[in-house]
Amino acid sequence: MNITGYSSKNYRNLKDPSFSPDSGINIIFGENGQGKTNMVESVWMMTGCHSFRTHKCSELISAGQKQARVKLIFDSRGFSNEGEIKISDKREFYLNKVPYENSRKFLGVFQAVVFSPSSLSIIQNAPSERRRFLDIAVSMTRPVYASHLIRYSKILANRNALLKQIASGKADENSLSPWDDALSMTGAEIVGCRLEYLKNISPVSSEIYKEISGGKEEMKVKYLASCKDVDDCGDKKEIADNIYESLRKNRENDIKRLMTSNGPHKDDLYITVGDRSARIYGSQGQQRSCALALKLSEADMIKKINGEYPVILLDDVMSELDFGRQKSLLDYLKNRQVFITCCDINQFSSLDRYASFKIENGEVKTG
Ligand SMILES: Nc1ncnc2c1ncn2[C@@H]1O[C@H](COP(=O)(O)OP(=O)(O)OP(=O)(O)O)[C@@H](O)[C@H]1O
Ligand SMILES: [Mg+2]
Repeated sequence: MNITGYSSKNYRNLKDPSFSPDSGINIIFGENGQGKTNMVESVWMMTGCHSFRTHKCSELISAGQKQARVKLIFDSRGFSNEGEIKISDKREFYLNKVPYENSRKFLGVFQAVVFSPSSLSIIQNAPSERRRFLDIAVSMTRPVYASHLIRYSKILANRNALLKQIASGKADENSLSPWDDALSMTGAEIVGCRLEYLKNISPVSSEIYKEISGGKEEMKVKYLASCKDVDDCGDKKEIADNIYESLRKNRENDIKRLMTSNGPHKDDLYITVGDRSARIYGSQGQQRSCALALKLSEADMIKKINGEYPVILLDDVMSELDFGRQKSLLDYLKNRQVFITCCDINQFSSLDRYASFKIENGEVKTG
């Protein structure tokens, strides 16, 4: 995928910019608070159909205006397309002027992967952030996965409601069995998809990390199941049996705590640098490199499935990376369309070729 034209109207503080990006590295530079992240966010809207910063449409519209618009002209599979999103109290999606019924149908039309400072939460925050990363990434490559997740959360809610009834003496403990059965079957589908995805991305992310760190360090990603180690499980039936066994074992505890304490909704990723937890021991630069390696391996996976490399959006990625890591990252990204935001353009002076765009108070000027 390759963006050949960008324009927006009434998007946050942006003063209706319109420009033609380069097919390689594009540097969006400017002082703090000028609109760099707003620009990247508006591009990613075309992928995620919502902002990576907020779910409130009203925040995306320039103060005092009623509607914002983002338009991208992009090449995909040898064709030039025009994608447009209109944002008011609702969102409307168009591809080549044809309206799409809803955002769900528009997902996948334009593919980009974004790294923003909040991506660091994948490494630094609670297990739920790592599950979220995994769930979004797996859904993008396997649409059926989202329906497994929806089914699982419904069964889980029913099981938790039943735990409350049992605790208050209104239901019998044996009535949990059908829910344990359903939870473990659907749970096995989820874990199966996650493991398959990880099998694909973990060697890639390790390789990318090695490249970014100049071959000095090794990063590994492992699935951490809350039930029982699933690494050795031969198939989904075995995973389902593990989950079922664990639910049975923890019944008493679950009834006391009024919640289901084991299952894929509690699983985690164990990310290590040099065999030590990146979350606990990693430096800022190491954690940033891990998050980047995971995000870039997500892009590789999209390429593997769709045949096209997504556009890479890197918001504020260079801070906390030393010169060597910055250079390795840029080397890795050559031949791809990338948008990088930064305050200081000079840090890219070693690059042979790039386009630059200066943002000042929402106005974009070709640098
Ligand atoms: N709906 C809106 N209408 C008008 N201005 C807005 C709106 N939403 C945000 N802004 C303004 O956009 C600016 C922030 O832009 P942005 O986050 O893109 O900055 P940035 O260039 O990425 O800065 P930094 O280098 O600090 O990350 C702020 O001045 C903010 O007040
Ligand atoms: Mg910013």
